[in-house]
Amino acid sequence: MELREIGKTGEKIPVVGMGTWAMGNSTGEQRREEIKALQRGIELGMNFIDTAEVYGHGKSESLVGDAIKEYRDDVFLATKVAPENFAYDDVIRSCETSIQRLGVKFVDLYQLHWPSPRIRIQETMRAMEELVATGKTRYIGVSNFSVEQTMQAQESLPRSEVVSNQMRYSITSRSIEADVLPFCRKEKITVIAYSPLDTGKIPISRIPKDMLARYEMTPAQLMLNWVTYQDPVVAIPKAGRIPHIEENARSIDMRISQADYEALSKKFQ
Ligand SMILES: NC(=O)c1ccc[n+]([C@@H]2O[C@H](COP(=O)([O-])OP(=O)(O)OC[C@H]3O[C@@H](n4cnc5c(N)ncnc54)[C@H](OP(=O)(O)O)[C@@H]3O)[C@@H](O)[C@H]2O)c1
Repeated sequence: MELREIGKTGEKIPVVGMGTWAMGNSTGEQRREEIKALQRGIELGMNFIDTAEVYGHGKSESLVGDAIKEYRDDVFLATKVAPENFAYDDVIRSCETSIQRLGVKFVDLYQLHWPSPRIRIQETMRAMEELVATGKTRYIGVSNFSVEQTMQAQESLPRSEVVSNQMRYSITSRSIEADVLPFCRKEKITVIAYSPLDTGKIPISRIPKDMLARYEMTPAQLMLNWVTYQDPVVAIPKAGRIPHIEENARSIDMRISQADYEALSKKFQ
């Protein structure tokens, strides 16, 4: 699996990780399958897992905790705090609860899920730095932040850096190319692309068949290859089934050519 530096940390993570939205609500056989799917993904090198306290009201974090029990040291683990918990004490409490649900001692990346219109970013970031100082998290990230909001977030961190901004990005959802993506590239902030498979609505009929044949790729693989083509983007497709996990893990075994990357970019513009 290809690796890419997260922020300016010097630490590398897989360019294709795993999202877990809508996981954990299941019970019985489906829950077991989701756990096995995540474990297979870790074995195949997609050992970067993203979850959030709001996913299934904590059930996604609990499922991830069950999946990574035997693999904790191998996994780069990311979760998120929701805006209603952005007050100082609430951030600390949310992180501690997430850590408990995940069954770990710390999370690698703690992210602000959405900007808050209510609580000042300075107060939230004071708590985020406290979590780093006490070893509960290692890195601070944001999600769904505009350029201006990312700059404010960075200015509110006297001792740390914003290492990532998690944003919707896929071949069919390109709005970040106007501003957030170039800004993050310049500032060396990793863009974590969410919904990289357009939430499963893969535009199969629009993807050139000759390209799929030439690279022996499926439409999903070509989408992931395209979205992670350029620094500083990594992607977190969600797959609850092992065949999808195995397909996604092989999506960047080979890189498409620059000419094909550009042709695809133009076709979906
Ligand atoms: N920060 C935010 O605000 C935010 C918002 C949305 C999402 N996210 C994160 O990003 C992750 C991914 O986004 P997403 O879940 O919205 O959408 P996505 O990853 O674009 O699509 C997920 C869907 O694609 C299907 N799929 C996966 N691999 C496939 C393959 N190889 N071939 C065909 N279909 C495939 C999955 O099916 P199966 O599950 O049946 O395998 C699932 O239905 C989330 O899980 C979450 O962690 C963050």
